[in-house]
Amino acid sequence: MTRIIKPLLKNAALIAGCAILITACNKNDSTSPKAMPLVMPANFPPLVYDLSANPITEEGFMLGRKLFYDPILSADNTISCGFCHIQGSAFTQHGHKVSHGINDKVGVRNSPPIMNLGWYTSFFWDGGVFNLDLQPIAPIENPVEMGETMPNVLAKLNASAAYRQLFSKAFGSSEITSGNMLKALSQFMLQCISANSRYDKYVRNEGETFTEDEKAGMQIFQQKCSSCHSTDLFTDNDFHNNGLVPTIVNDSGRFKITLNPADMYKFKTPSLRNVANTPPYMHDGRLFTLEAVLDHYSSGMADSPTLDPLLKQNGTPGIPLLPAEKTQLIAFLHTLSDEQFLRDKKLSEQ
Ligand code: HEC
Ligand code: HEC
Repeated sequence: MTRIIKPLLKNAALIAGCAILITACNKNDSTSPKAMPLVMPANFPPLVYDLSANPITEEGFMLGRKLFYDPILSADNTISCGFCHIQGSAFTQHGHKVSHGINDKVGVRNSPPIMNLGWYTSFFWDGGVFNLDLQPIAPIENPVEMGETMPNVLAKLNASAAYRQLFSKAFGSSEITSGNMLKALSQFMLQCISANSRYDKYVRNEGETFTEDEKAGMQIFQQKCSSCHSTDLFTDNDFHNNGLVPTIVNDSGRFKITLNPADMYKFKTPSLRNVANTPPYMHDGRLFTLEAVLDHYSSGMADSPTLDPLLKQNGTPGIPLLPAEKTQLIAFLHTLSDEQFLRDKKLSEQ
């Protein structure tokens, strides 16, 4: 290198040539993907997702968003991810107890929110998937959701010049692979962070105040609910049986994955962020209001061998709650709504 460069330094014309080369080089840099780091909320536990294997870029995020809202991922090009995960309802499927997919087919479980997924150790109500990058294969190939196959999706995407260009911008190669497609979807979903509710501003001392009811509700919550709905994610990333009576579907939850009888009827603790915006509730959407949820906890619980011991403290199933306490708890749960997240244009279909 030095052997070549030194004599060049004496030649002004060549120095100019060099400068042009450097500019060209810089130009190249500006078209390479632009980093879009995750903003870590101060009140969250450490991130779980390994960003080093899939660094988020603006181009990757925008591609992931386009894929998320594109029905091309389904067999008849009618159902997008966004069809069942609607932003204004914290990316749940508003108005549906269980998911409603291709050809009007219905599933057996309620669409969970898409938010703060980078902090989760497993996905789905039964934790059947533990890597976010593998998660979208399930809905794409599920006959009652999108009814498509991965090879077909890739063929359709590869046939689109627009998509090939977007993949090239995001990943430096216009060949569309399942790996890059799944990474792009993860990049979009990882940026779906909900951490600016009134609750967050209150606990981070950002000038937010709580009413007396909200403060009392928070105290009751900390005593009676936060062992499972724990940390500021409002989930312990673990599985519990919270005493729902099995229905005719007889969804055995975590047992389906582990086949361990001790896991019978256990489901992943859902986060309660934006919970006022995500009815109906529970894995099968059986409860329509927060009042009904609290009635379940106080008096509707079924005993069974795997009922969580925390929910059977005095020998009788249930968490004792007075009517006034229920009102206060509901006031508190409403402070978890994050309007900024629910309306963030960056996360909407463009
Ligand atoms: C037909 C409705 C439907 C479609 C379409 C759909 N989903 Fe889902 N999604 C669901 C349901 C229902 C669950 C819960 C399934 C379960 O727990 O067994 C779920 C779960 C998830 C989860 C796990 C969330 C958590 O906290 O565990 C993620 C992430 C997700 N979907 C992303 C996607 C992506 C990405 C797409 C598009 C490729 C997609 N979904 C398409 C209904 C749908
Ligand atoms: C022993 C652990 C545990 C405790 C304690 C607990 N929960 Fe839950 N909660 C769960 C699990 C697990 C689910 C999901 C159950 C299912 O769908 O099968 C759930 C579901 C919910 C839901 C429905 C959320 C949704 O998106 O569908 C709400 C609301 C809720 N709990 C509120 C509370 C409140 C309020 C308290 C305190 C009074 C409480 N929970 C105490 C484990 C717990």
